[in-house]
Amino acid sequence: MNILIVYSHPSKKSYTFQVLEHLKSVLVKQSWNIEISDLYAMNFQSDMSEEEYEREGFAKTNLPISKDILAEHEKIEKADCIIFLYPVWWSDCPAKLKGWFDRVYSVGYAYGQNETSKPMKTIPLGLVICTAGHPNEFLEEIEMAQSMKTIMLEDRLGQRFKNKEMLILGGTLELEKVMEKHFSQLDKLVEKIKNYIDK
Ligand SMILES: Cc1cc2nc3c(=O)[nH]c(=O)nc-3n(C[C@H](O)[C@H](O)[C@H](O)COP(=O)(O)O)c2cc1C
Repeated sequence: MNILIVYSHPSKKSYTFQVLEHLKSVLVKQSWNIEISDLYAMNFQSDMSEEEYEREGFAKTNLPISKDILAEHEKIEKADCIIFLYPVWWSDCPAKLKGWFDRVYSVGYAYGQNETSKPMKTIPLGLVICTAGHPNEFLEEIEMAQSMKTIMLEDRLGQRFKNKEMLILGGTLELEKVMEKHFSQLDKLVEKIKNYIDK
């Protein structure tokens, strides 16, 4: 099993980093291969350049793709499961991860295929895990949880993933109340991954 974690948080002092560490400890027990795109640590360029816009905006699939993007494509092609892990900032992922979608989802690869382009493979499973300051109940009440799910699962993951699920680890403003539950939810992911991939 090859798992790619696309991780977006700038600080090792963060709760999201603790979640990453716990997740890794759970996954390595299965002897699964784990690759991490740690976007801040890689200094991943999240802004689309003018040259890239020329290619993306006008679907000029004959123009070259940047090396850092080809490296991400390679990781995607190897993955059985991609986990996106990030904190909720202003009801969305950090701009760094948004920029990953802007640039890595290049035309001819993730959408807009033509006879000369090599399309992205269908990934068996996509998991979106985000930490959020507000409790889940509140995010559901104001319909933000549904909005975040629609954007991440229906648009960004979309048909590119056979199975997909989002786990909102909410209530982090009062961590002591939610941490134990969050970690047990993370522990249960292994079975979930096995079930989905075997389907
Ligand atoms: C810039 C910024 C924007 C945030 N926006 C939201 C938000 O829209 N909704 C929410 O529930 N929490 C929001 N939070 C709280 C974070 O989701 C919370 O800090 C995170 O889940 C856990 O913190 P840590 O990993 O940074 O330690 C925001 C935090 C920051 C720093």
